[in-house]
Amino acid sequence: MHFENCLIFLVLVSFGGSSHARNKAPLLDEDSVKTRNKAAECVFGKQVRELGSTWIPDLGVPIGVLYCMRCECVAFQKKRRIVARVQCHNIKKECPEPTCDEPVVLPGQCCKTCPGDSQNFDVQQDIVPQNLFEEEERSNKHYAALLTGRSSLTLKNEFMKPTATDWNKNNAVATGRFTLHKKNLYYSFYVSEKAARPHSLQFVKSNGDILEEFKLSYGSSLVNSVYQNATRKVCGVWKRLAKDYRRYLKQEDLYAVLVWGVKDQAEFTLSGRLMKYVALESEWFSSLLEPEPDTDSLAMTGAGGTAIVSTSTSVTPSIHLAIIFNGLFTSSETRDVPINVTLSLDEKKQVILQETIHVPNPARDVNVIDISSPLTSAHLRLLTRGRLVLSVSSVSKPDALKLSGNVITKTSCELFQTALASPGSAPDGINGMAWFYLNNDGSLVYNIQIDKLSAKENPPIIRLIDVKTKKNTEDLTPYFQNDGWANGTLDKLSPKVLEPLYSGDLTINVGTASENTLVKGRLVAKPVTDARDSPAPVLLKRENSSLPASVVGLAWISVDLDCYIHYDVSVNGMSGDRKLELWMELYPLIAPGAPFINKHLEDFQGNAVEGSPVEILTKEELTRLENGASFIKIKDQETKAVLLMAIITKVSIPPTCRSSYSANDNNVRQFDHPEIISTGECFFEEKFYQEETSWVSSKNPCQMCFCQNGITKCDFMPCPDIDCPNGKKIHVEGECCPVCSTNATISENNIQKCIFNGRSYSPGSKFHPFLIPSGFDLCTECTCDLNYPEIKCMRLNEHEKNCCKNCKKGGINDNDPLSDDFVPVDMTKFAKKDQYVKKEESLAHKILSEGGCKNTYNPKKPFANGSEYHPFIDSLGEYKCVTCKCQNGEQLCKRQHCSVNTCKKMFELKRRKEKIISSDFCCSLKDCRNKLRHKRRPQVTS
Ligand SMILES: *[C@@H]1O[C@H](CO)[C@@H](O)[C@H](O)[C@H]1NC(C)=O
Ligand SMILES: *[C@@H]1O[C@H](CO)[C@@H](O)[C@H](O)[C@H]1NC(C)=O
Ligand SMILES: *[C@@H]1O[C@H](CO)[C@@H](O)[C@H](O)[C@H]1NC(C)=O
Ligand SMILES: *[C@@H]1O[C@H](CO)[C@@H](O)[C@H](O)[C@H]1NC(C)=O
Ligand SMILES: *[C@@H]1O[C@H](CO)[C@@H](O)[C@H](O)[C@H]1NC(C)=O
Repeated sequence: MHFENCLIFLVLVSFGGSSHARNKAPLLDEDSVKTRNKAAECVFGKQVRELGSTWIPDLGVPIGVLYCMRCECVAFQKKRRIVARVQCHNIKKECPEPTCDEPVVLPGQCCKTCPGDSQNFDVQQDIVPQNLFEEEERSNKHYAALLTGRSSLTLKNEFMKPTATDWNKNNAVATGRFTLHKKNLYYSFYVSEKAARPHSLQFVKSNGDILEEFKLSYGSSLVNSVYQNATRKVCGVWKRLAKDYRRYLKQEDLYAVLVWGVKDQAEFTLSGRLMKYVALESEWFSSLLEPEPDTDSLAMTGAGGTAIVSTSTSVTPSIHLAIIFNGLFTSSETRDVPINVTLSLDEKKQVILQETIHVPNPARDVNVIDISSPLTSAHLRLLTRGRLVLSVSSVSKPDALKLSGNVITKTSCELFQTALASPGSAPDGINGMAWFYLNNDGSLVYNIQIDKLSAKENPPIIRLIDVKTKKNTEDLTPYFQNDGWANGTLDKLSPKVLEPLYSGDLTINVGTASENTLVKGRLVAKPVTDARDSPAPVLLKRENSSLPASVVGLAWISVDLDCYIHYDVSVNGMSGDRKLELWMELYPLIAPGAPFINKHLEDFQGNAVEGSPVEILTKEELTRLENGASFIKIKDQETKAVLLMAIITKVSIPPTCRSSYSANDNNVRQFDHPEIISTGECFFEEKFYQEETSWVSSKNPCQMCFCQNGITKCDFMPCPDIDCPNGKKIHVEGECCPVCSTNATISENNIQKCIFNGRSYSPGSKFHPFLIPSGFDLCTECTCDLNYPEIKCMRLNEHEKNCCKNCKKGGINDNDPLSDDFVPVDMTKFAKKDQYVKKEESLAHKILSEGGCKNTYNPKKPFANGSEYHPFIDSLGEYKCVTCKCQNGEQLCKRQHCSVNTCKKMFELKRRKEKIISSDFCCSLKDCRNKLRHKRRPQVTS
């Protein structure tokens, strides 16, 4: 019991204050445990905690660090899934008994200690030394998995029944590659063309526990990534693997499971164990091996393979193949079985290499064979262009048992990028960026942007140069356009490009006829995930002349399917120890004085930063990213000067993250967005409006809007019924509701109108008052008097008229002016006070001169000295809960207090679930609760 209390207390404090975006405290709601698409980590405050880690909670101002609390990120089993949760408990009771008479609590500790006590019970935060896991990763970096029916994980327990692989009618096969880097596991898959893109990917322990799951496709938009769409690869990253999970990986106790079908209804799955292979370190090409069309389909059920192919282009070119496969053995072949491996040219079936390899102990699921062989340069070139087919076949039954597939670009999802900077101090400020990727047919797709280069005067020459041999390899100039871009595809790539590209020795050199090098940059390989899976990066340009002209950067920004933003920024030429800040500014549009949302993404040092804030983007931020103008800025941490800047373009927002708030939803009232954050001003119909102001739409006089927390909320007014004696109604320009056609309304132009809340109303017109934040109050009808510019408002009977649109059924009226969020409208604004009939004016004057009080609602009827009255509130009429007395020109008003009897009556109504209209009682339930609490407290505590 005690534990639970602590838990809830912590949750409420830490989440209630820190994040507007999360409505629910994750610990209290089972289903929201999964944050950031990750099951196996905890989010506490704004920090991500690894499974198994412990910490002392710091709740920030004003509570600070709770030294007697210990929190831990612990694993829970939910059916087959492992999820992480924060658990906190008080350790005070566990403190050892102090040995002296006067123990003390040292700062930053929980337990009392005695001077000289060496043992410190207080645990430290667990900090894993950085170099430890880097060391661990160096030897455990690359893994591969073959996913076929035969290699799939079969679970003995009932969860997996019926075995989903039964449904894999087309005998689809897949293969994956995995790279562990800085605790992140990057994954990539080739999936056979017989299958659609899988719905999800699970990482499963051999006992069947699902450790993590990633969605790979959503609804109709199967894949929203240019790269994955073009290459048919499946790409992603499992971030921040917990220590235990890294151990499972190292022990080859992890399976990758691809799931097809729709949510909760798997059609079939394919899985395979993640295993270490030495050949992966130099993989240049891959092959997915599938049963050949004319083979024995029954014998080949669940069979498949993959090859890890590396080549050497040295003096004697050679090829190395590591083939992982199954399904090529007959039931009688149990020892030392020969397998034929053939490499041939695709259409001509011309054999380039054929070898027989003996498999000593054939296995049902996974067999590995290795082959090395010299290769001619011509064949190597054909290999680079995806023209070679690899087949593996049984020697005893070569036609029935055979797997084959093209040797194509390696499975890893990878792109190559660089910023282009001038090697010297070019004063003209030319710079640029480039990114490349390989299609699976081996063609090289490139995008190069060169900024500030006048192509007409100075046509550029763009070449790829191998740093080691200093040789020009390819000329990319022909695709250069006047807009500064060279986008294209190199179809016939030579191994002379591929080798330096993979080994990081390829530079892009941009020169002109007169100058050999204007700008250049060396291409660096990066995995395609998160930010880098967006269509294009943006060029970060120098904004501060104190920086060398060669400083330039490149930034990728994306929003994932869970609406989190991802960024990846690389800078060239900045000194590595400079302390920098990364910021994002989101404008509704570029206009002078436009309010912007300023988001601090991260502080960093060095030349690259990559990340994703723990908080989800608000709809406001997402809308601005998509439709507004957004900037990414790098600032100096000390001076806050902007050093580099880029305009963010083309960030595509997944439909799942789009705002449900649509301008077309005319009839839907938009007053229920508690998740919206405060940003100040609102932008509506080309104008900015201050917080808490209201205005009439310029396009529709019946639409009124107000600005709250930077969000525009609008409401439409249905006009009250109006009876015209002659049956003729007219519309006055700028007004929403019609008025009766009279001689006055037709002829007189400068007719005296009523002013209410800054809007004018023609005499005789009816309307509903507009209140912040609830919108039009349909329960109140106001009329502009026909004879005087004066407004009278009447509260309607809620049951009679259908006005109670904001009322909760059977509960307390949300529009209740006594509830906390009621904003009383300033009555003095309502009525215009000039131009009255002379006679009445003189009477009013007389009353005032005798010590009477002004009546702001009806200035021609001031209150006489000594009179008592109830004030008039527009939407309520006479407000009986307040009594005023006029005394020598001053009004003294008193609010009626809630009596215990009144409160009891109200609670009784509430118990009977009857409707309570607070104004009938002049009390709110809240007042009553406060009142009773204050009364009771002394009895409890004393
Ligand atoms: C995916 O590729 C297909 C054909 O190659 C193309 O028609 C489609 O527009 C692409 N989609 C995306 C999101 O790139
Ligand atoms: C298997 O390969 C050997 C050469 O290593 C070749 O002589 C033989 O014909 C091949 N067998 C089949 C069935 O392709
Ligand atoms: C080249 O590609 C980039 C990024 O996709 C695009 O913004 C640009 O307009 C393209 N330019 C040309 C000339 O095709
Ligand atoms: C340029 O950066 C330096 C160093 O941060 C700063 O002191 C200076 O004010 C900046 N200049 C401008 C024009 O922002
Ligand atoms: C309105 O004007 C018409 C003619 O101008 C006149 O006959 C009629 O009596 C007027 N009605 C009122 C209500 O003043």
